[in-house]
Amino acid sequence: MKTSEINENEPLQSLDQWEDDLLERYPEPFTKAKEEYRNYDTPERDTVREFYRLNHRYQTYDFVLEKEREFLKFDKKEMPVWAAFDFLNTLVDDSDPDTDLDQLQHLLQTSEAIRADGHPDWFVLVGLVHDLGKVLCLFGEPQWAVVGDTFPVGCAHSDKIVYPEYFKDNPDTYDERYNTKYGVYEPNCGLRNVHMSWGHDEYIYQMMKDYIPEEGLYMLRYHSFYSQHREHAYEHLMDEHDHEMFKWVDKFNPYDLYSKSPVAPNWQELRPYYENLVAKYLPATLRF
Ligand SMILES: [Fe+2]
Ligand SMILES: [Fe+2]
Repeated sequence: MKTSEINENEPLQSLDQWEDDLLERYPEPFTKAKEEYRNYDTPERDTVREFYRLNHRYQTYDFVLEKEREFLKFDKKEMPVWAAFDFLNTLVDDSDPDTDLDQLQHLLQTSEAIRADGHPDWFVLVGLVHDLGKVLCLFGEPQWAVVGDTFPVGCAHSDKIVYPEYFKDNPDTYDERYNTKYGVYEPNCGLRNVHMSWGHDEYIYQMMKDYIPEEGLYMLRYHSFYSQHREHAYEHLMDEHDHEMFKWVDKFNPYDLYSKSPVAPNWQELRPYYENLVAKYLPATLRF
């Protein structure tokens, strides 16, 4: 595919293409061979690169504040969590050969892997809901404002972020309020005071913040913050508490990345367990 054929709102053929690319960047140590996933020299690489070009260009400090105002009112839709999964599943794209399992399958594979390792039930719930924020796409949001690595806005972009060269198209790069090491923030102010690029992570965190223990909320909020998980690029904004909580973010991450399997979990069998789990922690309906 030539870059010129790429749709500005939907550079990726499916949202999963971003996650497939994460597996190229961060292959699972020792087990899966790299060639089991997509080859790096494929036309798909162009769409991923185009995706990040748009993401890095448009995710400005002002853009993030505007999206927070727009979506954190949660006045778009109200539905039970199960209806939200059905809604999310309408995102399945048959044109992507790697995406023969729907969105619920990824969530169930993640949560089942967490459950199999004997973690607390709220951790299993985090696995189940962590990508529910991708429904943003169904509200008409472009892919680059829903998925992708997240990063702090309002301060200098780390060169440890994937494709850092594309930040040259981001106006914040030339704005002296935002282009210094700390930008609008204080040293080690804590990530709770930092605005992250807008996407499904912040959205699901905000939706769940009254219902799930703080360790789980950190997992939701920072699960795509790879420049910190893998490169420790933003320690200068983090405080002691963030470091404690990131131990949990690090625990969650391998379940998200490496639990993909072509075998679909048996939803009918699992259903009673998950219905109980959801009823234990979440209200009857969620506001989107
Ligand atoms: Fe995610
Ligand atoms: Fe995920």
